[in-house]
Amino acid sequence: MDFSDQRLSYEKGELDQQSVPESPFELLNAWMNEAIEQNVQEPYAMSLATCGADNKPSVRIVLLREMTDTGIVFYTNYESAKGQDIVENPNAEALFFWHELERQVRISGSIAKIDADKSASYFQKRPHDSQVGAWVSQPQSGEVDNRDVMEQTFEQLQAKYPDNTTVPTPEFWGGYELTVEKIEFWQGRASRMHDRIVYTQDSGNSESTASWTTKRLLP
Ligand SMILES: Cc1cc2nc3c(=O)[nH]c(=O)nc-3n(C[C@H](O)[C@H](O)[C@H](O)COP(=O)(O)O)c2cc1C
Repeated sequence: MDFSDQRLSYEKGELDQQSVPESPFELLNAWMNEAIEQNVQEPYAMSLATCGADNKPSVRIVLLREMTDTGIVFYTNYESAKGQDIVENPNAEALFFWHELERQVRISGSIAKIDADKSASYFQKRPHDSQVGAWVSQPQSGEVDNRDVMEQTFEQLQAKYPDNTTVPTPEFWGGYELTVEKIEFWQGRASRMHDRIVYTQDSGNSESTASWTTKRLLP
């Protein structure tokens, strides 16, 4: 198949270094709100790239669950392939692509586990079946002989924890925060003259006084 004639012209917005906010979190919030308002499907879905000790990058989608003052939070199995990568190398990058807005955002930084209490309180808010599912998928990314094995385990756990009973929070499951060190906002423009503004955190700042330098990058 040949896709070389497929082209779109991006004309929905622009990004000006002079008028972007001082804090990238303000812009990220504004863009996320616009994605929600414009009914982007799964605006919280982001590609997360990690790279373990083997130096081979892996990428997969996870759901953004919270934006904090310092970064972005997602939940997963700590013993998954990505969890193992993060143990070996905490550096990672997350990517949002909101096609309807002709925008992408790249967030680079370092990943660490969030507080176990916070993970537990999120786990307890999830639907009962998803809670059971988290126990079934252990270790996430491990091999399973067939689907029947998964379904049998699911049924056994459903019997052990009927609806309306508490499913314990697994120790192997919880949140990670990707603390933002660099974040690039990309707005598609006509003629491939796209706008790219990258924020880099200035060194020597504590979290409460974080300041950022912006640069425009060639598209
Ligand atoms: C739309 C979408 C949302 C997903 N959200 C999550 C998530 O929040 N957490 C998670 O662990 N996996 C999520 N997944 C599954 C992951 O992409 C991936 O298959 C899984 O985490 C195992 O990845 P790993 O083997 O690289 O660790 C999602 C997949 C899709 C397509």
